Order: sequence, then structure tokens, then C-alpha cells
Amino acid sequence: MSQKMTFNVNGHRHTILIDDPDMPLLYALRDDLGLDNPRFGCGLGQCGACTVHIDGVPTRSCSLPVSAVGKGRITTLHGLGDRKKPHPLQTAWIEEQVNQCGYCINGWLMEGAALLARNPKPTEEEARAAFGDLICRCGTHNAAVRAVLRASKQA
Ligand code: FES
Ligand code: FES
Repeated sequence: MSQKMTFNVNGHRHTILIDDPDMPLLYALRDDLGLDNPRFGCGLGQCGACTVHIDGVPTRSCSLPVSAVGKGRITTLHGLGDRKKPHPLQTAWIEEQVNQCGYCINGWLMEGAALLARNPKPTEEEARAAFGDLICRCGTHNAAVRAVLRASKQA
């Protein structure tokens, strides 16, 4: 039987009907709320493409059941910044021309933003460690680290 669930996403409350409480949060974000920045990559919690923040903590939405979110505040890339008011990391991302195909980038930006929030002046090693379990088939790793370091100089 369907049940109502309410989420706080990017500062707004959303109530949706859920048929399966074990459904991944990613599906609710993309299919029910139309927030398509979190991407479906591996679906197994291994690539990071689906990353969102829950109470500021990077979380793989493909492997988190919707029922486990509770009162957690969800932030997606849409909530991080936009064209009018970009997050410093988004600006640095463009300046360093990090994107290639772009499929993975949601995860890198969300991990990088979380790193800068807890450590505004990370070293290169700390940035590499934060990105350590993300997968990019286009090999943007070094450019992504440069973008984090560039953004940290603006903090
Ligand atoms: S799609 Fe979630 S970690 Fe790969
Ligand atoms: S930019 Fe293509 S997969 Fe990362």
C-alpha cells in the first residue's frame, strides 16, 4: 500500500507517495521530484554519481532507502548553487575546465563541496583523499583536485 513521505530537499518540503520503502532515495529525487543532477551510475554505491548531502554529509542516494532519510535535510547539486549564485567550487570547476562528458560530475562537486565545508583550506593530499572513491571514466581527477584548491583560495 502506498504511503506518504515528506522530505526536506534544498530547503523545501516535499511530500510524495511511496509504494516501496526500500526504494532508493535516488529514484524519489529523480523520478518524483524531477531533480536530475544526482545520476544513476553503478547503482551499487561504488561510483559516487548519485551523491547528495544529508545534513551536510555526502551520501550515495542509490543505496539509501527512502525510508532511512527520516528528518535529514537533503541537499542536491541544485541546492548547492546556480548560474546566478554559484558555489565557489562550481566557479572553479568552470575555470579549471574540469568537465569532460560530465556524467560523474555531480558526485565530484558534492564531495568537493562537503570537503570545503569541513576543511576550507585542504591540502592537495586531502583533496585527493576526499575524491578517493569516486569514479570518472574520462580521467578528470587531477583537474578536479585543482578546482578544489582554486576554490579554497576564494574562501
Ligand atoms: S550510482 Fe550511486 S554510487 Fe554509483
Ligand atoms: S567527466 Fe566523464 S565520467 Fe567523469
